[in-house]
Amino acid sequence: MAGCLGLVLLAVFVLGFAAYSLRFGLRGIGLDLSDETYIYTPGGTITNIAIFSHMILGAVAMVLVPFQPVAWLRRRYPWLHRMAGRVIVTASVVVALGGLVYIALRGTIAGPPMDAGFALYGVLMLGCAVQALRHARAADIARHREWALRLAVLVLGSLIYRLHYVIWYSLTDGLWSNADLTGPFDQMQYFAFYVPYLVALEIWLRARKAPAP
Ligand code: HEM
Repeated sequence: MAGCLGLVLLAVFVLGFAAYSLRFGLRGIGLDLSDETYIYTPGGTITNIAIFSHMILGAVAMVLVPFQPVAWLRRRYPWLHRMAGRVIVTASVVVALGGLVYIALRGTIAGPPMDAGFALYGVLMLGCAVQALRHARAADIARHREWALRLAVLVLGSLIYRLHYVIWYSLTDGLWSNADLTGPFDQMQYFAFYVPYLVALEIWLRARKAPAP
C-alpha cells in the first residue's frame, strides 16, 4: 500500500516537472523569452538551442526512466525496453551536452561553484549513459543494470533538486537561500541533489553483491 502510494506520488511529481520542462524548452526554442527569464540569452543562438533542447529532452528521459526497472514490463515487452532505453540514452547525452555547452558559454546564475556542481552532474550523466549503452550492446546485463540505475538516479536528480527546494522552503520559508542561489542552502544544493543518492545506490549495489554471512 505504502509502495503504491509512493509510486503514484513519484508519477505526479515526474509528470508535473516534465510538463514544466517540456513547455519551458519549447517556448525557449520558439520565442524570445528575454523579458521572462535570465536563462534566455538575447542573440545567443547556440546557447539557447543548447539549454532549451536540454529541457525538452530532459522531460522525455524523465518520463521514460521510471518504467525501465519494472521487471514484468521488460520480460513481456523486451523490444519496448530496448527502444525506450535507446531514447533515454540519446536524450541523456543531449541533456548533458546541452547543459555543459550552456555552462561553458554562459555560466550558471551563481557562478563558478554552481558551474562546478552542475558540470560534474553533466559529465556523470554522459558517462553513465555511454556505459549503460556499451554494456547492453555487449550483453553484460549485470553491468548494464548497474549503469542504467546510476543514469536513472541522475535523470531524476533534476526533479530531486526542485523537491529539495519545495521541502526546504515549506519548512524554513527559504532560510539560507536567495534569488541568486548563493546562500548556504543553495551552495549545498550544487551537489546535494545527486551525490548522496549516487552514494546510497553504490552502497545498495555493493550490499546486494556481498556474499551472505
Ligand atoms: C533530466 C534531466 C534534466 C532536466 C529535466 C532539466 C531541466 C531543466 C530546467 C527545466 C531548467 C530551467 C530552470 C528551472 O526552471 O528550474 C534547467 C536549467 C539548467 N540545467 Fe537542467 N535539466 C536536466 C539535467 C541537467 C544536467 C545533466 C545538467 C548539467 C550539464 C543541467 C544543467 C542546467 C543548467 C546549467 C541550467 C541553468 C541553471 C541556472 O543558471 O539557473 N541540467 N534544467
